[in-house]
Amino acid sequence: MAIQPIRLFGDPVLRATAKPVTVFDKELRTLVRDLTETMLDAPGAGLAAPQLGVSLRVFTYHVDGVTGHLINPDLSLSEDEQEGPEGCLSLPGLRYDTKRAYGVVAKGFNMYGDPVTLEGTQLLARCIQHETDHLDGIIFIDRLDREQRKAALKAIRDTDWGGGPAPVVKASPHSTFGAAR
Ligand code: NI
Repeated sequence: MAIQPIRLFGDPVLRATAKPVTVFDKELRTLVRDLTETMLDAPGAGLAAPQLGVSLRVFTYHVDGVTGHLINPDLSLSEDEQEGPEGCLSLPGLRYDTKRAYGVVAKGFNMYGDPVTLEGTQLLARCIQHETDHLDGIIFIDRLDREQRKAALKAIRDTDWGGGPAPVVKASPHSTFGAAR
């Protein structure tokens, strides 16, 4: 198990569409363990594989004391919506009210390749939608309205990690920092 550096907004891996997992092997289980360890250490409510630089459809969650993971998620969203604060470990320190479906049924697989269904409302539903978005190259500020999104991008430029020269991070040069906007 190892805590890995988390890729920050501006890293192109966060904008890529992640590939479905086809091989449920030891390497995948190591990835799930790394995601879990890194998420709990941060700490965060969820972490998606692209945030560790791995473009595979895998995420972990830690909501209401329950820790788990889901691979190749396929979501059904409720018609009801919720609005509440949302943040992301790839945009440290920033939180914005974000509209999401109130409930989700997520079908997918565990790290052994067994089919699983994850159902949640409120915070868990928000987390599942946020992490699945990461697998499609979507970051939560993309879900904000135009004005809020502009404010968020400005806030990112004003942080000590955004809009400037790349911070020195092990295993992640962030060479396109700022260029992806
Ligand atoms: Ni995130």
